[in-house]
Amino acid sequence: MQSVDAREGGYLTDVAYVRQFCKELAPALLRAACSLNGFAPPPADDFDYCELGCGTGDTTNTLAAANPRSRFAGVDFNAEHVAFARDLAARGALANASFLEHDLARLEPEATPALDYVCAHGVLSWISPATRAALIDFAAARLRPGGVLYVSYNALPGWAAVEPLRRLLRDASESVAGTSVDRARHALATARLLSDAGAEYFASNPAAREMLATALQAGPTYAAHEYLGGEWHPMYFADVATEMSARGLRFVGQLPLYLNYRDVTIPLTLMDVLSGVEDRFAFERLKDFAVNEFFRGDLYMKGGPARDAATAAAFLDETTFGTLVPAANVKREIRLRHHVLRYAGDLFDALVARLAERPATVKELASDPALTPFGPDAVRDAVLHLLLGEQITPMRAATGPAPTGYNRAILDQRLSTSSPVVLASAQAGTGIVVPTLHAVALRLLTGVEPASWPSWIRAFVDRQPLRLQAGDRPVGDKNEQARIIAAEVERFRAARLPKLVALGVVDPVG
Ligand SMILES: C[S@@+](CC[C@H](N)C(=O)[O-])C[C@H]1O[C@@H](n2cnc3c(N)ncnc32)[C@H](O)[C@@H]1O
Repeated sequence: MQSVDAREGGYLTDVAYVRQFCKELAPALLRAACSLNGFAPPPADDFDYCELGCGTGDTTNTLAAANPRSRFAGVDFNAEHVAFARDLAARGALANASFLEHDLARLEPEATPALDYVCAHGVLSWISPATRAALIDFAAARLRPGGVLYVSYNALPGWAAVEPLRRLLRDASESVAGTSVDRARHALATARLLSDAGAEYFASNPAAREMLATALQAGPTYAAHEYLGGEWHPMYFADVATEMSARGLRFVGQLPLYLNYRDVTIPLTLMDVLSGVEDRFAFERLKDFAVNEFFRGDLYMKGGPARDAATAAAFLDETTFGTLVPAANVKREIRLRHHVLRYAGDLFDALVARLAERPATVKELASDPALTPFGPDAVRDAVLHLLLGEQITPMRAATGPAPTGYNRAILDQRLSTSSPVVLASAQAGTGIVVPTLHAVALRLLTGVEPASWPSWIRAFVDRQPLRLQAGDRPVGDKNEQARIIAAEVERFRAARLPKLVALGVVDPVG
């Protein structure tokens, strides 16, 4: 089997990429990033969206299910990826998702409808400069005025100290026959031996040790796609932004959202050094050195009105926000790279309880009796902080059918801990990753008559080689396993299910 397809600029095509959902690609989040930076975002509904290098299509399909009145397309040149994506769309009866098997180097803008969103997650650094130019040309040609291109890529200076790890993995993989995964497995083992034996490169580069640990944890399929392709270009923000601006695409912001706020991004010791740098372009260049950036997710807009601070204020005041989890599961402390967001005290207690119960705008929140004492400015600021810590998300009155058919198809597929279960919510316009045990509970609660629940659980534990624990004690006995699963299902039904019903993820049970 051919492991690297030279025709395609060296990106490997013999093994499928890992399945994953990229939450950054949700239009609701892209709109938030534009708005908070003062740029009028593309439409929230009835839009056209294209994901370039869509892999197995899990993100495109989930977003199509969660945005049923909009149209989604995914493009990838790996035939296995596209076949998988099409099959998932068909199983989920998605009429608004389509997939094209095509090389990004040869996209034909004239054959594509006008677009509001173009996204390429984890693509830019792994393709040749010519393919990168074709990708950006395509976005510049097909985006409507005010449309957005999101690109994420390996960034410099962060990768500078780690580039030799890539070289080591590439070189170590060369002597091995077999698939790219076989080669990656051997390369990872070689790097681990060197690191464990105290090789000076790893000893003096903690970042390389961490990156190797990440690759070992993510496994050889991920490592093959990350490190073994023929093209690999970590890039400076300034170089990407310059290529974009040459095609009329201007930088409008970054994801995760908190990175657009210097007071929660820059280490305290560097605040003064950067305080006079007002120009965003100049700031980003320095910021990447201040935080030693490894990976960036940037938004570029085609034309559109000038930046206006009122856009951010209007977004915060008029958007309906809600939680994806019950109040008890909203995190009260978020550790960012250099700062900690804390949601403690009476204001956050009242706010979290209110938003978890029912989505609301800042205006509605400020007039809630539990929150009026704090005043609208404090409420708005607290909402912003919850948003930056990703504990709340923009919501909308769901338009179009609830994606319960798509979610059923997801729940019906073989569950595996290596592929996350991602269910679509039309209210949130995005996907919700649920733990495997919750997916099992949902399968039971939404697909089986209550009278048959005990026998279903018993058949489930008999079928699965489950590794369960009661405290520190491993539980091998099947009767006890069935009792544990039944108790977990009940806990899930009481604590988690109502939220998923409220988010339109599943129909009410019973
Ligand atoms: C690192 S994976 C990222 C996949 C997906 N965006 C994600 O984040 O899960 C890069 C993807 O780009 C695709 N790709 C690479 N070069 C391509 C090209 N020249 N034309 C089309 N697809 C390409 C690969 O097949 C792969 O699915």
